[in-house]
Amino acid sequence: MENKIDIQNIKGEFDIFKNHPTLCYMDSGATSLKPRCVLDKMNEYYNMYGVNIHRGVYELSFKASNEFDIARSKVAKFINAKENEVVFTKNVSEALNEICLMLVDDLKEDDIVLTTELEHHSSVLPWIHASKKKNFKVDYIELDENNRITFDNFKKALKENTKVLAITLVSNVLGYVTDIKPIIEECKKRGIITIVDGAQAVQHFKIDVKEIDMDFFAFSGHKMFGPTGVGVMYGKEKYLKQLDPVYYGGDMMDTASKEEILLKDTPHRYEVGTPAIAEVIGLGEAIDFIERIGFINIQKKENELRDYLFNEIKKVDGLTIYNLGTDSPILCFNINYCHPHDAITMYDEDEICLRAGHHCAELLSKHLKVNGTLRASLSIYNTKDDIDRFVKKTKYIVDFFKDFF
Ligand SMILES: Cc1ncc(COP(=O)(O)O)c(C=O)c1O
Repeated sequence: MENKIDIQNIKGEFDIFKNHPTLCYMDSGATSLKPRCVLDKMNEYYNMYGVNIHRGVYELSFKASNEFDIARSKVAKFINAKENEVVFTKNVSEALNEICLMLVDDLKEDDIVLTTELEHHSSVLPWIHASKKKNFKVDYIELDENNRITFDNFKKALKENTKVLAITLVSNVLGYVTDIKPIIEECKKRGIITIVDGAQAVQHFKIDVKEIDMDFFAFSGHKMFGPTGVGVMYGKEKYLKQLDPVYYGGDMMDTASKEEILLKDTPHRYEVGTPAIAEVIGLGEAIDFIERIGFINIQKKENELRDYLFNEIKKVDGLTIYNLGTDSPILCFNINYCHPHDAITMYDEDEICLRAGHHCAELLSKHLKVNGTLRASLSIYNTKDDIDRFVKKTKYIVDFFKDFF
């Protein structure tokens, strides 16, 4: 691996800032920016050995296959999984949908899938949809007064026939980190299958799937400095060796006849057709990038940015803040005098990129009784100067709309 990266000068690793020197990007919850090394690695694939994998019996194909397999082993190490427990998907949404579709046949009428109103749509909508067809129930852990998931409320929601838990590790709207270990332990005692959405976790802190011991875990490459088009479905070997894949076609079977299909072992049985080769290789490079910075440094910087952001924004009148005391560098708020979509266009005038709306978590908007919120989500390339610009603009927008109110 190359030398360590100095987090204080991290902006220099992202060429987008050369093209947009005044960009104030506060939408990393939607997708992170991509460092040069990831793009270079993907270009290297296309320019140097850009052929298909696991098919060709020639040198270039061996090279491409080897790089693809190396990326899988980097992902496995990154989350402490076995290589055959790492399945590449398009993104976390596809992974969570596949998990639902693979498990749903074993659910009977009156079984319960337990989840929360904090979930991103991709963690909960597949279950709501399937429950209508199969007549099982989807239940929700009551959120506490700060809209957090608590162990006590989780225990209260458990029933004899709870069979699956689908839960977020970090809320994409409020940034709360779920205290997942005791929840998983309790599920294990009761034979409940656990699925954890890690989309907003893997870029911030170390995940050890064996230590947490969840059955399934999913995340996307593009939120962790990797490319779009690649995600990961982790599943314990004991499940992945026996479940029926959702998709069938090339490269996932050993033999096929009119009567029978003999599937390959995991993970290949779940990866049908030509995968996103450059993107998988790029994801491997994104993991190297994170490791060259180190999670200790990432967390230190993100916590400093979060604390500064909240200290400064709390000084502005005319706002409602929904996640004081959050665990992540995410601010969820509203300007009391205008709709979030009106505000967002004014931020954009100054090249300040935020997100407005439900953030694909409409159950939470309904729970909060709002039409939407504004979200500023930070990452390692943000600076205190970005926050100062954001706070100054927020004051300006408050004053602007207050006059019409
Ligand atoms: C918590 C969470 N889960 C799932 C997703 C879906 O991610 P993707 O669009 O990469 O499938 C997101 C995206 O914002 C998210 O924040």
